[in-house]
Amino acid sequence: MKTKTFFTSILAVILMMSFGYGKAKNSNTTTIQNIKAAITGETTASAKYAAYAKQAKKEGLTKIALLFEAASKSENIHANNHRAVLEQLGEKMDKVTPKYEVRSTKENIEDAIKGESYEVATMYPEFIKAASDEGVNIAMISFNYAFQTEKKHKAMYENALEKLNAGKQNEMSSLYMVCTTCGNTYDSQAPKRCGISMTPRERFLTIK
Ligand SMILES: [Fe+2]
Ligand SMILES: [Fe+2]
Repeated sequence: MKTKTFFTSILAVILMMSFGYGKAKNSNTTTIQNIKAAITGETTASAKYAAYAKQAKKEGLTKIALLFEAASKSENIHANNHRAVLEQLGEKMDKVTPKYEVRSTKENIEDAIKGESYEVATMYPEFIKAASDEGVNIAMISFNYAFQTEKKHKAMYENALEKLNAGKQNEMSSLYMVCTTCGNTYDSQAPKRCGISMTPRERFLTIK
C-alpha cells in the first residue's frame, strides 16, 4: 500500500470512529438477534396453540381448548409487540413459517409446559438482561410483557394437565381475558386495569 493511501485509510477510520459509525449499528446486535428469535418463538407458539385448541375440541375437551385459544391470542400479541420493536430499531425479518406437530391433548399440554418453562427460566431472563446491558429500553418492555405473561401461562397449563389427569377438565374456567397491550392472560374476569401494563379492561379480548 502506498504511504498516501495508507494514511488516507487511517484518517477515514479515525473519522468514522469519532462520528460514532459502527457504534450505533453494533451496540444492540445481541438484542436485534434476540428480538428475531422471540418473534419466531411467539409466532410459532401462537399457531401451535391454535392447532392444539382444535385438537382439544376434537377430543371433547372444550375448556382446555379455551385455554389454548386464549394463549394463542396472547402469543400473537407478543409477536406483534416484538415486531414493532424490531421495526422501531430499523430492522426487518422474513416471514416466519411455524413448525410444530399436533399430538394428543395430553402431549400437547406437556409440550406447552416445556415451551413456557424454557421462556420463563432461560429465554426471556437472558433477553431482558442483554437488552438492559445494551440499553434498548423498548425491547426490555416488550420482553418483560412476554416474560410476565408466560409465567402465568405455565401455571395455567400445569393446572390444565392436573385437571386432565384427574378427569376434571370441567372444573376449569370457561372465561379468559387477554390484554391487547401485553398479552396478560386472566382465567376469570380481568381487573379494571391490567396487572402488568395497566391497560383498561375495556381493551381486553374475551374468550369464552
Ligand atoms: Fe405463553
Ligand atoms: Fe396488559
